[in-house]
Amino acid sequence: MFRSQLTQRLLDAFTSAQIEIPEGFAPSVVLASDTRFGDYQSNTAMALGKHLRTNPRALAQTIADHLKVDDLCEKISVDGPGFLNFTISKPALQSHLCDICQSDRFGVPTVTEPRNIVIDFSAPNVAKPMHVGHIRSTFIGDSLARVARFLGHHVTTDNHIGDWGTQFGMILHGWKTLLDHDALAKDPIHELVRVYKIINAAAKDDESLREVCKAELVKLQQGDAENHAIWTECVRLTMIQLDKVYDTLGVTFDYALGESYYNDALGPLVDDLLAKGIASVSEGAVVVFSDGSVKPEEDPFLTRDKDEWKAAPCIVRKSDGGFLYPTTDLATIDYRINEWKADEIWYVVGQPQQLHFRHIIAVTQRRGIDVKLVHVAFGSIQGEDGKMFKTRSGETVGLLEVIDEAIDRARTAAAEKDPSLSGDALEEIARIIGCGAVKYAELSQNRMTDYKFAWDRMLSLQGNTAPYLINAYVRTRAIFRKLGEDFAMPAALQITEDAERGLAMKLAQFAEATHDILIDHRPNTLATYLFELADCYHSFYEACHVLNSTGITRDTRLTLCQATSRVLKQGLNLLGIQTTERM
Ligand code: ARG
Repeated sequence: MFRSQLTQRLLDAFTSAQIEIPEGFAPSVVLASDTRFGDYQSNTAMALGKHLRTNPRALAQTIADHLKVDDLCEKISVDGPGFLNFTISKPALQSHLCDICQSDRFGVPTVTEPRNIVIDFSAPNVAKPMHVGHIRSTFIGDSLARVARFLGHHVTTDNHIGDWGTQFGMILHGWKTLLDHDALAKDPIHELVRVYKIINAAAKDDESLREVCKAELVKLQQGDAENHAIWTECVRLTMIQLDKVYDTLGVTFDYALGESYYNDALGPLVDDLLAKGIASVSEGAVVVFSDGSVKPEEDPFLTRDKDEWKAAPCIVRKSDGGFLYPTTDLATIDYRINEWKADEIWYVVGQPQQLHFRHIIAVTQRRGIDVKLVHVAFGSIQGEDGKMFKTRSGETVGLLEVIDEAIDRARTAAAEKDPSLSGDALEEIARIIGCGAVKYAELSQNRMTDYKFAWDRMLSLQGNTAPYLINAYVRTRAIFRKLGEDFAMPAALQITEDAERGLAMKLAQFAEATHDILIDHRPNTLATYLFELADCYHSFYEACHVLNSTGITRDTRLTLCQATSRVLKQGLNLLGIQTTERM
């Protein structure tokens, strides 16, 4: 918030100094890289000086002379070749602290131009094994939705379940020949996947089996009553089980419109693409080819094969009349724009689907549709050995298994640490710590890196982990329990010690950490911030007595504890992580 205020003042200074800002040039203020000179800095005079061919230091001085920041800064200085440095004043920090303690925005301003954003995440496939990509997508998507909402955007979350695909040919045949009904009742997803895997493996070198499955699929697509009933049941059972997991995780969706929802829109969509000349018929299929409008290196419809560029078309209808994954996604875009007035759609889907989304984005552009489509991609998760990630029981991992195991491990750890815990209280802590640990392990990573899934590390009370941060929160609460009363905002504050100032400054940067997430859809910016905040708090706590101090000093320190408590809780909440009052 200081950053955005200072940026605005900088712009005002340009106006009052009558310096014209060249096109495409945005004056900016950032956190100081070296805090000896100030809290924030601007390199604008240097960049602009070069551009305008004037002495950057003189330009910085002119800007400084016109800056009106008395209410925010105790000092501004021009240093080195033309840096502008800003030191925030204690009164400004104190008033911001009050804001953090009293407002439900925690001192974080909303965006000036709210957008209608649809976030497409999680999206597992019915009756197919879930994979780690669905875990990453669920956590990243949920966090981005929380952040975008908190910042004032209009967010619609949609779980685009894969409930209509060629896997149903195998599932239908498996259901009719292999299904164990008791197992299905106990754990439907597991049983459906078991059946799918068997048929899928057998079909690999059995042409006639493939034909049988295909015939089942065609019957389903043509509306055969029996097959349709089985399909409905598969989706229903899967959704019940998934909803339980989402519930445990505290993840919600405004809609869960699966792929099947768009079936009726696919034919007309393909006709439209043909009519507009965007798609053409090729060997009986309907496809979109390159239109040559961009360089081959940037063209998603071309691929390099040795020295030649070859067509990499997007197929929207197969020669047998079947529609494909891209067709559904294109129809889904129309729906989201018509029904939800989407300005932006964010797809939180793994990096391997990059080409698919480049196709979708390019076709949408060619259709002249004005919407911002973003593929929020991510890398993969490996086991601790760097190989494919497996659970304790040796199975490949889906969301369900990971959450169960995380809660198990957290329960064991919590019961060891505090043997008096039992029953519902233990369960609640195990759920919060277990889910929190797995989510944080994900969200503290740069989403594009492949990371190793290390149970012991993520559940550790030390280091950059959820248990460490939740524990920091618990420690802030412990002070008020000892105090024996709730926090009440004191009439006046006075920051004196460096450790107090350092913590107050860090707390004020919550606003920036939160806004920065959306620059590149990276929740790890916030995770890093929270970890640093907890560190700052520990330094403060070591340097300053809280309950043993008196008067305005005590009031100020209690306010710092309260503000830290609130920011930690809200920050974790934006990552989808709950806190507990004790642990
Ligand atoms: N069901 C897909 C999969 O598991 C992910 C869907 C992502 N969303 C989308 N609109 N394509 O790979």
